[in-house]
Amino acid sequence: MSNPKVLAFAGSIRRDSYNKQLVNVAKNSVEKLGAEVTFADLHDFQMPLYCDDLYKKDGMPENAIAFKKLMKSHNGFLIASPEYNGSLTGILKNTIDWATINYEDEERLACFNGKVAGIMCAAPGVGGSHGLHHLRAVLSRLGTFVLPKHVCVTNCHAHLQGENSIADEKIQHQIDDLAAETVRVIRGLH
Ligand SMILES: Cc1cc2nc3c(=O)[nH]c(=O)nc-3n(C[C@H](O)[C@H](O)[C@H](O)COP(=O)(O)O)c2cc1C
Repeated sequence: MSNPKVLAFAGSIRRDSYNKQLVNVAKNSVEKLGAEVTFADLHDFQMPLYCDDLYKKDGMPENAIAFKKLMKSHNGFLIASPEYNGSLTGILKNTIDWATINYEDEERLACFNGKVAGIMCAAPGVGGSHGLHHLRAVLSRLGTFVLPKHVCVTNCHAHLQGENSIADEKIQHQIDDLAAETVRVIRGLH
């Protein structure tokens, strides 16, 4: 296959989001392996909360169409999401929900089916993994191959300081492993 195409995004739209930083560290690792990575900030793709009435009245919001197209045109995803109250964030779930809604005549789960996802989280405390378990369940339900190992960066403010890498070798190694596995599985599937 040609170079794997990976879409990287975070489940937070906060300007200084640690999870946006984390997914960009992973982006850097994946790029070193020859993949093409697109970073998408969900802040630029804001969409209303999904409601069937709204969809029937106004159709698919422009940002939902644009994000769906991005998802479809990539082989896999790198997703870093904070945990909100023990689960994935509302913004991430809402984005996923819109992406499962029929648009034109494409297959309903075309954005997810057969894609590969490397998932991770950054948390200022010690939390984060509950959210990833829920994210894993949601994506798996939609046909995405979620890599068995995920990365949780706890105490994240000590590690993520706007750089493309993490000084702590052990954490950087975990991210590099996730990146390598993402590329390896995409190559294996295509
Ligand atoms: C509504 C809300 C719920 C949260 N719940 C959790 C939680 O369950 N576990 C956790 O570790 N952190 C929780 N946090 C803290 C987030 O992990 C923290 O704000 C983190 O920095 C958000 O990620 P970001 O920097 O990428 O925006 C919560 C924050 C908010 C705003």
